[in-house]
Amino acid sequence: MASTVIPIERLRFGQTSRKDAWWLPQLGVFLGLGTFVVYATWAALQGRDYVSGSMISPFYSPEIWGPSPHALFGPQPDWLPWPSFLPFSAALIVLAIPGNFRLTCYYYRGAYYKSFWADPPACGVGEPRNTYLGERWLPLVMQNVHRYFLYGAIFVWFFLVHDVYKAMWLVGPDGKQALGLTVGTVLLSVNVVLLWLYCTGCHSLRHLVGGKCNTFSAHPLKFKMWKFVTSLNKQHQLWAWCSLCSVGFSDVYVRLCAKGMWTDFVLFRI
Ligand code: FES
Repeated sequence: MASTVIPIERLRFGQTSRKDAWWLPQLGVFLGLGTFVVYATWAALQGRDYVSGSMISPFYSPEIWGPSPHALFGPQPDWLPWPSFLPFSAALIVLAIPGNFRLTCYYYRGAYYKSFWADPPACGVGEPRNTYLGERWLPLVMQNVHRYFLYGAIFVWFFLVHDVYKAMWLVGPDGKQALGLTVGTVLLSVNVVLLWLYCTGCHSLRHLVGGKCNTFSAHPLKFKMWKFVTSLNKQHQLWAWCSLCSVGFSDVYVRLCAKGMWTDFVLFRI
């Protein structure tokens, strides 16, 4: 049988025969994620202006210890070790969970591997290294902890839902609380819905609800749940970005209201 030898030639970094703007999505991810990380780090280090009225910024929730009335266990305890060079901030305690959840997310991994360290820059584009180690070795093997951060993120999400409920109790000019809705409450509600869509489309959750099963016909409930998670998983990239924007903007909104630069407009009050 005739055979043909096709030589495989390693491309130089950036070398490609692609004619499209393959670099454009990578640039968008670099700018979008870079902006979010810089802003979130700045906001988390502030340690103040994260509560306005009955709203709390999602970056600071659940507030385990802190000076606000939302704190679960009151102010920072004396026994809690805290580095002297860092201002105390409730966000630095809790952000490790949603932060690592996103960092280890299968979608974000693909996106920032390409955008931040060109591994590879895009399909059919030469990369700046000759070896491929994948995610089987340290440090990237640690990405496999994603499923555990999923459990943590779901736990945090319930607190955010509770925050929406608390934000609906508005304090009137007479000092009395009444049920109502403000622009901020709507924003926090949209945020929890988008976070739910993002978490529910998680690849690990898809495995959790549909895995360890060879015959779906024998497990109709499992099949229904797997189909539902799969339908959201198809749009995982969309929900990842929408929820990232909503969580970031929720913090901006609460912060500017807390600083008195914006007014949280009351839509109605019962
Ligand atoms: S894969 Fe993206 S959140 Fe789990």
